[in-house]
Amino acid sequence: MARVTFIQSDGRQQTIEIENGYSVMQGATANQIAGIKAECGGSCSCSTCHCYVDPTWYDRLPWAEDDEAGLLEYAWEPKRTSRLTCQLIVTDELDGLVLYVPEQQV
Ligand code: FES
Repeated sequence: MARVTFIQSDGRQQTIEIENGYSVMQGATANQIAGIKAECGGSCSCSTCHCYVDPTWYDRLPWAEDDEAGLLEYAWEPKRTSRLTCQLIVTDELDGLVLYVPEQQV
C-alpha cells in the first residue's frame, strides 16, 4: 500500500491510499481525483492520466517503457518529470509519492 498525494494547479492537495498492484491512475479515478480523466482506461493510448512527478521522486520510479515515453509527447505540456499514472504500478516503495496534476489534459 502506498499513500499518494495529488496537488492540483491551484494548490489543492489530496492524499489517497492505493493498494499494491493497482495503478496510480486506478487509485486516482476510484477516489475522484480531479484532472485524471484516464479516457482509455489504462491501456496507454490516451495520455489523459498525465501527471508531473515531484522531482524528488522522479528518479526513484521505474523508467517509462517506450510506448509510455512516446505517448507522453502528446500529453498537455509535457515536462522532464511527466509520467502516465496508468503505467505506475503501486508498491510499498511508492509510499509518499507526490504528483502534480496538469492544469488540463489533452
Ligand atoms: S489512462 Fe490512457 S494513457 Fe493512461
